[in-house]
Amino acid sequence: MEQRELLYEGKAKQLYRTSDPDVLIQHFKDDATAFNAKKRGTIVDKGILNNRMSEVLFRFLEEQGVPTHFVRRLNDRDMLVRACEIVKIEVVARNLVAGSLAKRLGKPEGELLPEPILEHFYKDDALDDPMINDWHIRYLKLATAHELSHINETALRVNALLREFLDQREIVLVDMKLEFGRHHGKLLLADEICPDTCRFWDKQSGEKLDKDRFRRDMGGVEDAYQEATRRICTAAA
Ligand code: TMP
Ligand code: ASP
Repeated sequence: MEQRELLYEGKAKQLYRTSDPDVLIQHFKDDATAFNAKKRGTIVDKGILNNRMSEVLFRFLEEQGVPTHFVRRLNDRDMLVRACEIVKIEVVARNLVAGSLAKRLGKPEGELLPEPILEHFYKDDALDDPMINDWHIRYLKLATAHELSHINETALRVNALLREFLDQREIVLVDMKLEFGRHHGKLLLADEICPDTCRFWDKQSGEKLDKDRFRRDMGGVEDAYQEATRRICTAAA
């Protein structure tokens, strides 16, 4: 697949046009940012590992009947994806209290939620991705009512499927951020699924295997990404 001009550059990825207008190349970088890019760094080989993990998780979800933008992995850092118009809503699904939820509700990190919680954030860096609700989504026309209910149902299903998949690999899916895109009128799960966009905790020890190690200056960041990749890309026992 011939790579053409750069279409979009994000904090961790680039999107390139190809000779086929229906598909793009998603390129994974090692750049890491936190707190809306106030903190910047590099996680060695992150791009390679996130590309691999996203491939495995997108393939698994496709097998389970969840439509995604994933077409195929091209090489270490590139995957072919269906060209989408990204819905400007970041959907967060949570199974345990952590991160901004712990702060917002004054609850301890690690508390198991009686049922998953879904949250929505307006994907707008200039505004620091504020939390929004159904009324804001209607007012801003970010998605139709029909699209939003489809997005929410899919997010809960993806969360349940990945929670089980990861549990079999000794990983607790604490929470995750999902993005959706429109492709010829159909909603597809888009972006990436990896330790940048999910919280992964070791099932036995609770050790963090995700980007919180970078966000919180905990050290062992590369090792955590390697270990998450090893578990996710190896068939469950
Ligand atoms: P939060 O607890 O900071 O709101 O994060 C919830 C989940 O969303 C967590 O798994 C990390 C992911 N996330 C992103 O993918 N991008 C972001 O910009 C932020 C803030 C969180
Ligand atoms: N996406 C965040 C940033 O804007 C990073 C994060 O906390 O995941 O830098």
